[in-house]
Amino acid sequence: MTSQGRSSPLLKARNIWVVYSDGTVANKGVSLTLYEGEIHGLVGENGAGKTSFVHVLYGVVRPSAGEIYIQGVKTRIASPQDARRHGIFMVPQHNVLIPTLTGLDNIRLSNGAEAVDRVYRLVDELGIDVDLDTPVERLERGMVKKIEVLRALATGAKIVILDEPTSVMSPVEVEDLSRLLKTLRGAGYSFIFISHRLDEVVEICDRVTVLRDGQVAYSGGVDEVEKLYRLMFRGEEYLEASSMRRISPMLRVFLGIEGNGQEELARKYLSGSRGFTGYVPGNPYSAMVPGMSLVDNVRFRVLDQDIDYEGLTLRIVRSYEVVARDIYTPIDRLSGGNMQRFIVGREVELSEDRCVLMYPTRGLDMRSMALVHRRVWDAVERGCEVIYFTEDMEEALMLGGMISVVYRGRVSEPVSADEADVDRLKMLMSGIGWS
Ligand SMILES: Nc1ncnc2c1ncn2[C@@H]1O[C@H](COP(=O)(O)OP(=O)(O)O)[C@@H](O)[C@H]1O
Ligand SMILES: [Mg+2]
Repeated sequence: MTSQGRSSPLLKARNIWVVYSDGTVANKGVSLTLYEGEIHGLVGENGAGKTSFVHVLYGVVRPSAGEIYIQGVKTRIASPQDARRHGIFMVPQHNVLIPTLTGLDNIRLSNGAEAVDRVYRLVDELGIDVDLDTPVERLERGMVKKIEVLRALATGAKIVILDEPTSVMSPVEVEDLSRLLKTLRGAGYSFIFISHRLDEVVEICDRVTVLRDGQVAYSGGVDEVEKLYRLMFRGEEYLEASSMRRISPMLRVFLGIEGNGQEELARKYLSGSRGFTGYVPGNPYSAMVPGMSLVDNVRFRVLDQDIDYEGLTLRIVRSYEVVARDIYTPIDRLSGGNMQRFIVGREVELSEDRCVLMYPTRGLDMRSMALVHRRVWDAVERGCEVIYFTEDMEEALMLGGMISVVYRGRVSEPVSADEADVDRLKMLMSGIGWS
């Protein structure tokens, strides 16, 4: 089914501006048209304004300017309840179902018994494969997402907005979700599908809108994939800091959006090294014991009588510029950035022959990022192999080392950061150019 040539659009947003109270302009005149029975991709890199835009459609964010038309009628959407009354439902990026309840109980709880009937009817009529009887916490994320979509339809929604539904899914789960959406499209439902993976957008969507810096860079058919990725990224300003770039086979950088098989890769590197292997998990807060002091947070990591824990802790605090009253301060008194630098410092400094860092600078400012990069290079220079995961191409190029792209469990041939072809890295990250 195609959307072309249809009479009136189901939803039309015109010239939407979003200005947050801190002055950030997240949308600068965004327009988008959604037809009935269409899956419309909304793509753009992190910070492009995708979530802000759909928050306007869902009544979460009030636009500073612009209009929304539903079936040709100008409509004000002041709240999510309002949006739902107009048949719009948004499935947020992160699971909102109650983990201990089944899909069915979740639907019943939020939308009542009628909604359950409606879901049963849909499942029967369309032959949908879904597990509604197992507690959500025991299901794979793909299945949970399917339940969330059905729950949306149970509210009577005609338009479902999916914010990055596939960001932590395996390829099989993506295919499965894609099948569901196409079935529902056939039944007349419409979707706005947010993603930054172009290959799946091409696979799943009928049309696509590309946002860049809060503006529409493209809106139309999805056949010109190679063009889309160019539209998604800004110019060539990435290479500014390149003069400092250093290369060593001891620094292995894995570039890719989280959920593409990094965990498995990290596990591989965490086994089989001879000495102590430092490890910063994707969520650094899971690597500390709240309530315990800085020095005890180092002590519990390596219970070894011969270590001067106080001296080591002090050294970490100093060289990672951790702001703390003293080393006996409970770690959770520190601000987020300081805590993170402390954990990264602890792992890097304790590492003997290897260190595995998952997104160690995520959320840190540029200055802190540069500091972590310097310490990583210090570790490399004392003979420690560093396995560094990042989602940020700019960071990978600044850091140096040997870069591989990770995408859906595949790892590209490492290239040295000074010879990396930026366009090629971007393509690989978007799922293009893999043989
Ligand atoms: N509540 C908010 N207050 C201020 N700035 C925000 C808020 N939400 C998002 N932003 C900023 O708006 C820009 C667009 O963000 P967002 O819409 O989340 O983009 P995307 O979903 O494409 O990653 C970013 O610079 C982000 O930091
Ligand atoms: Mg977003």
